[in-house]
Amino acid sequence: MIFDASQSDAGAERGARPVDPASRMASVELTEDDLALDRSLRPKFLNDYLGQTKIKDSLRILIEAARQRDDVVDHILFSGPPGLGKTTLATVVANEMGAKIKTTSGPAIARTGDLAAILTNLEDGDVLFIDEIHRLNRSVEEVLYPALEDYALDIVVGKGPAARSIRLELPRFTLIGATTRTGLLTGPLRDRFGVLFRLNYYTPEELADIVIRSAQILDVAIDREGALEIARRSRGTPRLANRLLKRVRDWAQVEGNGFVDEDVAAQALSFFEVDSLGLDAVDNRILELLCDQFGGRPVGLSTLASALSEDPDSLEDVYEPYLMQQGLIVRTPKGRQATARAYYHLGMQAPEDLV
Ligand SMILES: Nc1ncnc2c1ncn2[C@@H]1O[C@H](COP(=O)(O)OP(=O)(O)OP(=O)(O)O)[C@@H](O)[C@H]1O
Ligand SMILES: [Mg+2]
Repeated sequence: MIFDASQSDAGAERGARPVDPASRMASVELTEDDLALDRSLRPKFLNDYLGQTKIKDSLRILIEAARQRDDVVDHILFSGPPGLGKTTLATVVANEMGAKIKTTSGPAIARTGDLAAILTNLEDGDVLFIDEIHRLNRSVEEVLYPALEDYALDIVVGKGPAARSIRLELPRFTLIGATTRTGLLTGPLRDRFGVLFRLNYYTPEELADIVIRSAQILDVAIDREGALEIARRSRGTPRLANRLLKRVRDWAQVEGNGFVDEDVAAQALSFFEVDSLGLDAVDNRILELLCDQFGGRPVGLSTLASALSEDPDSLEDVYEPYLMQQGLIVRTPKGRQATARAYYHLGMQAPEDLV
């Protein structure tokens, strides 16, 4: 879904650039405050989880069917850009199943023994959540395969010619993996998930619902128009919407009477230099490079990444999807290219041959 351009008055704030490092909003690095906010606002059940209707409907069926069979839910993979609700969905699935969730991450499981310890400590029906699952190393991944397929753990005892493998039975469990990088997942691992869900950016209407829900929890007085103003500048991402809500609340408290309407939200967000499309400093830099430095020509991913001093993978997985969804850049066979809308957003004249 592409945001309606008429809703986000790009022209009104031509040339506005976020300068505050905190406005590096798409950033994968999170502060302790961000994590605490995430935890306090995290929906617990499917009914409080707003938007992503198709995914929710499928999960409802999956969970209900497993419950009726008195079985565990199939292994699930959630993928998508940061802050869209992958970790949240993992906890929602566990809560809906009345299951305990054990959480770890790809980089935390360094050795096969670490994974074996986690698996043998699982209890029947548990959910094992592995965040950043694309970062598991190969030997660890291989231990995971039989665990996922047969609920079994193969361990090797002894050394040299006397070495033999014994198979331990594991309790039935559900693995939920999360990744921002589906492309990096190996085929054999991906194939072992029963269901794969790709999360998409939220529409402003969906984000406004999320902002209103969060405002109730945080005790912020806000109307729908105020919530929509925050939603439009939140890069389609609930985590950012919640962060911006907190900033707007502070501004409204100090500069106004505490109530957040459209005008207050707009003034507060301009004060914090949040871009009219919710673009952060890196997003804007990408557009500047494409429009200005590279003169509107198509640019290869690695060239663009090195000009930005960003890693090509995060460029591809974190930044590009939103810029493409917004119609600001396109992928051509020759590389990435800015659209006329990108020039307009930067307050620049677009080349004539650009549509
Ligand atoms: N559908 C939703 N409804 C309401 N709030 C949501 C929803 N999705 C996410 N949130 C809010 O956004 C926060 C961030 O979501 P979450 O931590 O699940 O993202 P993530 O996809 O796991 O991100 P990362 O890739 O950085 O781990 C949550 O704590 C929650 O407050
Ligand atoms: Mg997460």
